[in-house]
Amino acid sequence: MKKKVVIANWKMNYDFHETTSFIRNLLKFVFEKKINHNKEIIVAPSFPFLHISNQILQGTTLNIAAQNIHQKDRGSYTGEVSASMLKSIGIQKVILGHSERRKFFLEKNNILLEKIKIALKYGLNIIFCVGESLNERYNNQQFKIVKDQLEETVFHCSSEDIKSFYIAYEPIWAIGTGKTATFEQAQTMHEFIRSLFLEKYGEKISNNISILYGGSINDLNAKDLFYQKDIDGGLVGNSSLKLEKFLDIVQS
Ligand code: 13P
Repeated sequence: MKKKVVIANWKMNYDFHETTSFIRNLLKFVFEKKINHNKEIIVAPSFPFLHISNQILQGTTLNIAAQNIHQKDRGSYTGEVSASMLKSIGIQKVILGHSERRKFFLEKNNILLEKIKIALKYGLNIIFCVGESLNERYNNQQFKIVKDQLEETVFHCSSEDIKSFYIAYEPIWAIGTGKTATFEQAQTMHEFIRSLFLEKYGEKISNNISILYGGSINDLNAKDLFYQKDIDGGLVGNSSLKLEKFLDIVQS
């Protein structure tokens, strides 16, 4: 059976001490409770702490993801971090297409496709985010928006490359707002996303791809969300910043 995936996206929150002590405590708990057998757990700290975080988790089943990469291999891009740099410190995963990157850093689908290509070149797994705004949902455009986002990015990849992906459906109106999509809304969209993968890549890939939900997941709603047929886990923001809450979610 496919393991549920739970990812902590810490965004720009934790410093060195907060990051390392959280990861050490998480590791201790996960092994005491043996919850790593039925869950894949991934933590996405900020760039400066990726190396130490990865070292702490070396030889364990927990994994680290970066929150971004630049689309170019190397060069004069002051302040940026490349896929090859991440690879050189043993990072295996990266989040791409997060709505905060799309909104604040103007990352359009064409840039995201370049990022996907460079991530694949360096063998990184990609947690790729899609999702509609509140306005788009009001206008019943959510399916078109998500389909376009996938068609202009992920669907340019071969069947072989698709194995490197997790998809995260994160409705923008649910991120950091406390307003979660209902189980029905989330399940309906996840089913739709899976049907797009079925159409494009066939049954095996559509069954195997992990489609995660993100947007105000907490310790109270995680269980019902994760219970839905097409929801394979969660990408968690705010509630991943408190160890107890995150552990409750991981155990949901
Ligand atoms: P919240 O869980 O804070 O809504 O954030 C979700 C998110 O953006 C995860 O990537």
